Amino acid sequence: MTPSYLRNILVLLDLFVVFVQSAEPSGIAWTTRFWDCCKPSCSWNGKADFSQPVQTCNKEDNPLKDFNAGTGCNGGDAFSCSNQQPWAVNDTFSYGFAGIYITGHVEDFWCCACYRLNFTSDPLTNKSMIIQASNTAYDVTTTNRFSLAIPGGNTTSYDACASQFGVEQSVFGQTNQGVASREDCDNLPESLQAGCQWRFDWFMDASYPSATFERVVCPSELTEITGCTRKDDSSVDSAFAKAGGINSGSMLTFSPTAATLTFLTLITAGVLSA
Ligand SMILES: *[C@@H]1O[C@H](CO)[C@@H](O)[C@H](O)[C@H]1NC(C)=O
Ligand SMILES: *[C@@H]1O[C@H](CO)[C@@H](O)[C@H](O)[C@H]1NC(C)=O
Ligand SMILES: *[C@@H]1O[C@H](CO)[C@@H](O)[C@H](O)[C@H]1NC(C)=O
Ligand SMILES: *[C@@H]1O[C@H](CO)[C@@H](O)[C@H](O)[C@H]1NC(C)=O
Repeated sequence: MTPSYLRNILVLLDLFVVFVQSAEPSGIAWTTRFWDCCKPSCSWNGKADFSQPVQTCNKEDNPLKDFNAGTGCNGGDAFSCSNQQPWAVNDTFSYGFAGIYITGHVEDFWCCACYRLNFTSDPLTNKSMIIQASNTAYDVTTTNRFSLAIPGGNTTSYDACASQFGVEQSVFGQTNQGVASREDCDNLPESLQAGCQWRFDWFMDASYPSATFERVVCPSELTEITGCTRKDDSSVDSAFAKAGGINSGSMLTFSPTAATLTFLTLITAGVLSA
């Protein structure tokens, strides 16, 4: 065994340790849309170690102080706040909120964490967003998913939007589809029209775009809206993620991602250079 083989084994061991210990997720995700008007899942006490749960609002769109208030999707007083909708900063960058799922984890892992999404499919290639996880998307658990909160983007079987705004549920579009055109956004409550139009403008009405994602420190632009900051936010190591980070967790739960492919390429490159 030559010294360069030894070195490669050491490099492999180092990478293995980084891989197993990393708490910062990155990887490839699928994106969907939702706007169900329900109280977001991260709006309950104790969902994660955070400053306060994600702000909810009453029917008048005023912030509710009581985080124990029941969801408007089940007869309660708490709905989603209209200001938790996406907005464009420029042609290639937007802020927003999402219901997310990261394979191998449960919601205390992501509630109120922020992620950068770089879209990887047309027509959104080269556009990116930073979103805060305000909700949880447990309905599909086979893949990483970011369901972007877009008013009129996708109604569900709940009639919470009708109940929150006193309109017909159909104003919010079809189940699983949302509204059909930018013009249809004009029928939404005024406070939600801009986010609805964002889908047809900046987001180019993309269907299920794919994205790479990495956790980032939450920008105040987002935490000022939700009121929620995670206690571990100051220790987010996006430098590691930027260097080609690994899907988090243990060897048992990882799924193949661009990042793990990069990782394997690094290993192969190391071995071949021996
Ligand atoms: C709407 O939401 C449902 C439930 O999460 C999901 O299955 C569907 O793919 C979504 N539709 C879009 C266009 O995102
Ligand atoms: C868009 O805005 C983001 C965030 O402020 C900034 O980092 C980026 O450089 C801007 N891009 C362009 C093309 O102006
Ligand atoms: C994305 O950016 C890369 C690097 O700047 C560029 O080569 C590519 O043409 C861009 N793709 C699109 C679809 O804009
Ligand atoms: C997203 O793109 C930016 C700019 O190219 C890059 O710095 C960052 O590492 C990328 N992040 C992910 C998760 O792909």
